[in-house]
Amino acid sequence: MKMSVIGTGYLGATHAGAMAELGHEVLGVDVDENKVALLASGQVPFFEPGLPELLSKHVTSGALRFTTSVQEATAFADLHFVCVGTPQRSGSNAADLTYVNDAFRSLLQHVRPGAVVVGKSTVPVGTAGALAVDVRAAGAQLVWNPEFLREGFAVEDTLRPDRLVMGAEDDAALTTLQQAYAPILAAGTPLVITDFATAELVKVAANSFLATKISFINAMAEICETTGADVTQLATAIGHDDRIGPKFLRAGLGFGGGCLPKDIRAFMARAEELGVDQAVSFLKNIDDINLRRRARTVDLALEMCAGSFAGRRVAVLGAAFKPDSDDIRDSPALDVADAIQRGGAAVHVYDPQAMGNAKNVHPTLAYSSSALEACDGADAVLHLTEWREFRELRPADLAAVVRQRNILDGRSILDAATWRDAGWQFRALGRP
Ligand code: UDX
Repeated sequence: MKMSVIGTGYLGATHAGAMAELGHEVLGVDVDENKVALLASGQVPFFEPGLPELLSKHVTSGALRFTTSVQEATAFADLHFVCVGTPQRSGSNAADLTYVNDAFRSLLQHVRPGAVVVGKSTVPVGTAGALAVDVRAAGAQLVWNPEFLREGFAVEDTLRPDRLVMGAEDDAALTTLQQAYAPILAAGTPLVITDFATAELVKVAANSFLATKISFINAMAEICETTGADVTQLATAIGHDDRIGPKFLRAGLGFGGGCLPKDIRAFMARAEELGVDQAVSFLKNIDDINLRRRARTVDLALEMCAGSFAGRRVAVLGAAFKPDSDDIRDSPALDVADAIQRGGAAVHVYDPQAMGNAKNVHPTLAYSSSALEACDGADAVLHLTEWREFRELRPADLAAVVRQRNILDGRSILDAATWRDAGWQFRALGRP
């Protein structure tokens, strides 16, 4: 099938590559000329394991092309995926729908009658129903098909999703979309067909649940900190209950990134508009618990610096919001680094992939070219993003360069006994 993918960020670029992998002819569209030029040469403007290989394979074969022209896309295909971002609106909790509205406006100016438009962006409930009126007026049909990919696993999650969700009012449009996903459906992937509102809600409900699970265990970490209990053992024990499960119970610095924080805030903002804010008012607690973990990390770092950051040097290992990503949107690690720098310490940051992005957005922090260099002369070492290479750091190597053997594990991954045995003062969130 021929199809276009409008918006080529994390979601769109991965979707375009995955659709080409399924055997389709795909045209990716973006307003950013530089991004289009890079993608057209088979390169990816961000770090996502497996994606450069996927894109270059299909760019080379000719199955995947990129353009800045929406008109080229509507002349090329009658199936269009809208994958643009919906960031948090500045000064508000609500989602900024500018990119979605712009994408639909320009697409609907040129779309051919009978075409199918598929919305994949995460939008406030009610958006698809309103957009469907304009789509129908242009002679096309809308399907809402939310995406659940995780950064770091984007290719895998797109080609082998847990489920496909399609919200629609038109059977023919649904059939077209099922044809596009035929190999994924043939592999036995569950398909849930819904109305527009349910499809939109599935996405924010799933992210709210995941955020709640993380903040739940982080709330338990707060209790553990005042009682001397160990939240990692607690998580292991409750995770053995099938009904609870062990995933997303990793206590620590909490969630960040371009999805969970802004999605739960946008959900609260939309619920307020709908007059049902009480139903999701608990999400405010989820957000607050999450942000308190960052404050707690700063407090523990201060304790390690004997109560004052003035004249101290602090090493921050990690800048990305999670490992295997260079995404620093709402990064807990950089939030903590900023706060400690504001407190008066010299903060030296190292991340295997996110240095470029971090330097652009946080230019006043100091950056090192390795973990060891960041730790040089440090009074405290903070492990804030759980990259594999940080897990493999050897206490003796770090001990040779730091000023004080203080380490804080913000991600509950390091082995406390190994560090303590090597003479380090080891602290972790939610652990004695
Ligand atoms: C998330 C959802 O998982 C995905 O389905 C949705 O489409 C987009 O949002 P992503 O933001 O890529 O994906 O990251 P995810 O792996 O979910 O992690 C989110 C954050 O939670 C990270 O900062 C991570 O470090 C943190 N986290 C995750 C925890 O603190 N503890 C956990 O147990 C799990």
